[in-house]
Amino acid sequence: MTTVTRSSAHQAWLARARSALGGAVTSFKPPDELAIVISHGLGSRVYDVDGREYIDYVMGSGPLIIGHAHPAVVEAVSRQAALGSTFYWLTVPAIELAEKIIEAAPCAEQVKFVSSGSEATFHALRIARAYTGKQKILKFEGGFHGVNDYAMMSAMASEPTPYPQPIPDSDGIPPQIAETVLVSRWNDVELTRRLIEEHAHELAAVICEPLQRALVPAPGFLQELRRLTEQHGVLLIFDEIVTGFRLAYGGAQERYGVVPDLATYGKAVSGGYPLAAIAGKAEIMAVTDPSRRGRGEPVAHLSGTLNGNPVAAAAGLATLEVLRQPGVYEQLYRTTELLKSGLRELAAERGIAVQVLGEGPLFQVLFGEQEPKDHPGVLATDRTRARRFGLACLERGLFVNPGEKFYVSLAHSTEDVERTLDVFEAALDSVRD
Ligand SMILES: Cc1ncc(COP(=O)(O)O)c(C=O)c1O
Repeated sequence: MTTVTRSSAHQAWLARARSALGGAVTSFKPPDELAIVISHGLGSRVYDVDGREYIDYVMGSGPLIIGHAHPAVVEAVSRQAALGSTFYWLTVPAIELAEKIIEAAPCAEQVKFVSSGSEATFHALRIARAYTGKQKILKFEGGFHGVNDYAMMSAMASEPTPYPQPIPDSDGIPPQIAETVLVSRWNDVELTRRLIEEHAHELAAVICEPLQRALVPAPGFLQELRRLTEQHGVLLIFDEIVTGFRLAYGGAQERYGVVPDLATYGKAVSGGYPLAAIAGKAEIMAVTDPSRRGRGEPVAHLSGTLNGNPVAAAAGLATLEVLRQPGVYEQLYRTTELLKSGLRELAAERGIAVQVLGEGPLFQVLFGEQEPKDHPGVLATDRTRARRFGLACLERGLFVNPGEKFYVSLAHSTEDVERTLDVFEAALDSVRD
C-alpha cells in the first residue's frame, strides 16, 4: 500500500481525529495510509492541511454541484448569517426556496423542510403511512435512502437479498422494523409487480431512487412503477436527494417523464448547507398540518429545530439561481461525458473490462465484463479492484470516495478533465493484474 505524504502537524491532526472522532465523520473512511484532513475547498479543488491540492470528485457527496465556495453562495450565506441564523419560524428564504422547488418539480404542490436527507425519507414514509392508513413500504435492493431504520434495509447488502425479506444494513435496528419493509430487485418488473399486487392491502408506499446509485432505470421501469402504484392505491416516492436539480433542473421527474406522489430533496437543493425537503401533492402533504389533530383526519407529526433554516435556504436559492442559467446542464453533461468516454478508451487500450455507470453529472467505475443492471449485478463486479482504483486516484491527487460515485460540478474545467484522465491512466495501470 502506498501513502500520501503528510507533515507531522497533519499526522497530529489525524491522531486527534482518531481519538475524538474514531477517525472519520461518516462511516466512509480510507485506509490510514491515505487519510487526510481537509483545510478548504475552492471551485473543483480541495486542499488538505498541508496545502496539497486535489481535484475533487466527492464534492461533499453531491451538494456542491456549482463548486466549492461559489461566490454567489458565499455572499448569500454571509448576508443571511448577519441577519440571524435560525428562528424556528417562517422566513423569506424558506418561503422562496419552497416556491422554487414547486416550480421545478412536477410532483411538488407543497414542501416541508428538514435538515438531512435521512430525515426527509423518514418523514416521507411516515406521511405515506399516515395518508394511506397502511403500514408497509417497498424499497429496492441497493437503493440508498439514508440511515433511518426503515431505509437501512438491503441498501448496502453484500449478499443477495431473499426477496422480499430485507437484510438490515446495521446492527441496532429493531427486528420489528424489518417486518414492515419489503425489498424488490431494481429493474425487475415481474417481481415488483407480484409484490405490489400481493401486498397492496398493507403497502403504503414504494420508494426508489429513480437513478439507483449509478444504475439507470430500464426503459419503461419507472412508468410501470407509476402505473402499478396508482392502480393499487400505493403511493410512489422518488428519492431525488441525488437526482434533484442534478439530472435536470426538474430532476429525475423531468429527465424520465414520470411524476411520483412524493419526492425527497437534499444535496444540491441547499448548495452544501444542511437542509432537505419533502415535496408532494397538496392533498397528501396536508397530513402534516397539526390543526388536523383530534379531528379524526390522518396526521403525521413533522418538526425539527432547524427546519427551513434560512442560512441553508439562502445557499439553496443562490445555487438554484446559477443552475437556472442557460447551458448549465449541457456543460455538466458534456464534462461528465468527456471523463466517462476518456476512461472507457484508456481501459479499452489496456484490455481492462471496465463499466462506467451513471447518467448526468455523476458516474461510478466498476470492473467486470457485464454491465450491471441491478444490485446483484454490482455485487458480481470486482469491487476490490474498484476500491483499489479509487485509492490509486486518491494517492495521485484526485479526491474520491473509493469504489463509490464520482460527482461532477460546473466548476470542473477542461483542464481538470485532462489532468483527471492522466490520473485515470496511471490508476488503471496500477490495478492491472
Ligand atoms: C439517494 C439518497 N437518499 C438519502 C440520502 C441521505 O441523505 P443525508 O446524508 O443528507 O442524510 C442520501 C445520501 O447520500 C442519498 O444518496
